[in-house]
Amino acid sequence: TSLSQDELKTLVGQAALQYVVPGELVGVGTGSTVNKFIDALASIKDSIRGAVSSSEASTARLKALGIPVLDANDVRLLSVYIDGADEIDGNGYMVKGGGAALTREKIVAALARRFVCIADESKLVNVLGAFPLPVEVIPMAAAYIARRFESLGGQATLRLKDGQPLVTDNGQHILDVRGLTISDPLAFETEVNQWPGVVTVGVFALQKANVCLLGTAQGVRTLS
Ligand code: A5P
Repeated sequence: TSLSQDELKTLVGQAALQYVVPGELVGVGTGSTVNKFIDALASIKDSIRGAVSSSEASTARLKALGIPVLDANDVRLLSVYIDGADEIDGNGYMVKGGGAALTREKIVAALARRFVCIADESKLVNVLGAFPLPVEVIPMAAAYIARRFESLGGQATLRLKDGQPLVTDNGQHILDVRGLTISDPLAFETEVNQWPGVVTVGVFALQKANVCLLGTAQGVRTLS
């Protein structure tokens, strides 16, 4: 009997507990896989100090389970940040932001010594870019940034919610860029970071995963 995608997410969410350091704070990502991790974290909540969260959605879930959430400004260094991904390659480079939380995810990841990515095996790719790349942008720069992606061979569309531009936790918009092949994630991230109006590009190369717990039919595979 093979496991469903939901069961694979539960498996890696639970496996991530082994990276949580007793007595410390843990950085918490966003998404359906991380939700499984948060549920597992609740079972050991008395052994940790609390969490630093990457979205309003994760904060609400953490608080509902009685896990204290601290402000990122009150934290100097986290031992670990645990988050999912939309794509991850063999080097730990990722595309993230399918849940629109990429900016705070990159910030909390930057505070952590180690990034542990949890994902079902459908997220593992050879080359990043098949998943439409999320980019958080200042609204007045959206059309300009879309044209710059066109010059790289991409097609950018503004993400909508209920027929209106989606507004992020930070009050900004999201472009989703199709048709890119990101063969050099580090160079790509560095380049796009410099475009005026870009808040955050969803390529995580500077903040890549140090460990990936991949849910497979054979169980949890650890890539590091
Ligand atoms: C949120 O903005 C994303 O970066 C998520 O980490 C990503 O979309 C993974 O979500 P799932 O675990 O729901 O696939």
